[in-house]
Amino acid sequence: FRTPELNARRRRLASAHTIDDLRTIARRRTPRAVFDYVDGGAEQEISMARARRAFDDLEFHPRVLRDVKEVDTSTTVLDGPSALPLVFAPTGFTRMMNHEGEVAVARAAARAGIPYTLSTMGTTDMEEVRAAAPSARHWFQLYLWKDRAAGEQLIGRASAAGYEALMLTVDTPIGGARMRDVRNGLTIPPTLTAKSFAGMVIHPAWWISVLTTEPLEFAALSTFSGTVEELIGRMFDPTVTVDDLDWLRDEWPRKLVVKGIQSVEDARMVVEHGADAIVLSNHGGRQLDRAPTPLELLPRVVDEVGDRCEVLIDTGVRTGADLVAARALGATAAMVGRPYLYGLMAAGEPGVDRTLEILRVEYERTLRLLGLPSTAAIGREQASLRSR
Ligand code: FNR
Repeated sequence: FRTPELNARRRRLASAHTIDDLRTIARRRTPRAVFDYVDGGAEQEISMARARRAFDDLEFHPRVLRDVKEVDTSTTVLDGPSALPLVFAPTGFTRMMNHEGEVAVARAAARAGIPYTLSTMGTTDMEEVRAAAPSARHWFQLYLWKDRAAGEQLIGRASAAGYEALMLTVDTPIGGARMRDVRNGLTIPPTLTAKSFAGMVIHPAWWISVLTTEPLEFAALSTFSGTVEELIGRMFDPTVTVDDLDWLRDEWPRKLVVKGIQSVEDARMVVEHGADAIVLSNHGGRQLDRAPTPLELLPRVVDEVGDRCEVLIDTGVRTGADLVAARALGATAAMVGRPYLYGLMAAGEPGVDRTLEILRVEYERTLRLLGLPSTAAIGREQASLRSR
């Protein structure tokens, strides 16, 4: 069943062969303030650029004369199956990027057989996301709030709705200074004028969705209007310590992931306090500028805690070859944020499918060219970071 609108979207996607192509289409079709919220980073955007450069600078070491007719891309992440060493990272306000929002992203993840992490700052009820993609592996990302009772309620709901993992993000005691948002005057909900959409053909449902963006899980914010930084300042608890991690470990018997680890010492600390997995991340370069580069930190962290927990990585992953790189340096899997949002902004749910298709094709091709028949065969000998 194909409506003219769906056909138009597919035509648009035909010119997208890389994640960068999707980004180009997304930029043309999205109001500037919304596109910049996704695309931008904190302060001078140095963390963001360095994370990308680390992937560019990595060198592969292929072997030849191997049978690579068949390749098996599948793997195990948090004790469950995944079609690729890939997980969708949590991103807030997803219905601002396209009215199909979190549901579209979860469905595309389900079809591709990879886990999806819903953000605390989501714009669709967690129960609705779960029900819309029953076959997906659902994880829930948690920020701890000043209002602990409300946080506890969220955890209870995630448990009742069948979320298999909780991911505590620890790199956001306060909001980063995202200068593009400051210059664009971005607020939540956005106050976009007709001029913001000038020259764009916007689906009416998306227009409404943008103008009514608010984090659903914050009942206390139903009358809020301000910047993202102000919103974080109002709700997030900057006093969170490792004692709260202990508390969470007691509250949540399923898989517990800590996201935003940026040193070997902190990796060791959270594992000692019960984390089943960690995500080396600088939040896509959106928090501390000049933060450590996750890919460069990865081998040392894996050496230190890799036998006690799974190590995931994010920030700057843009190609299937990057997934191979992350895996070669010891990560169980890599997460992506912006790549699926570019797809979503470019063409809604089919755009997210396209993101996944591009990454899968690139991943398979890289494995074959490296002489590897499977994800399991990737080892440290396949890649190294070139010293600059
Ligand atoms: C994020 N990220 C994020 N992380 C988190 O723990 N909770 C959240 O609500 C959000 N929100 C969010 C919104 C947007 C628009 C972006 C781009 C990112 C960070 C995200 O989970 C992940 O760490 C980065 O996106 C990874 O970097 P790349 O893949 O975007 O380069």
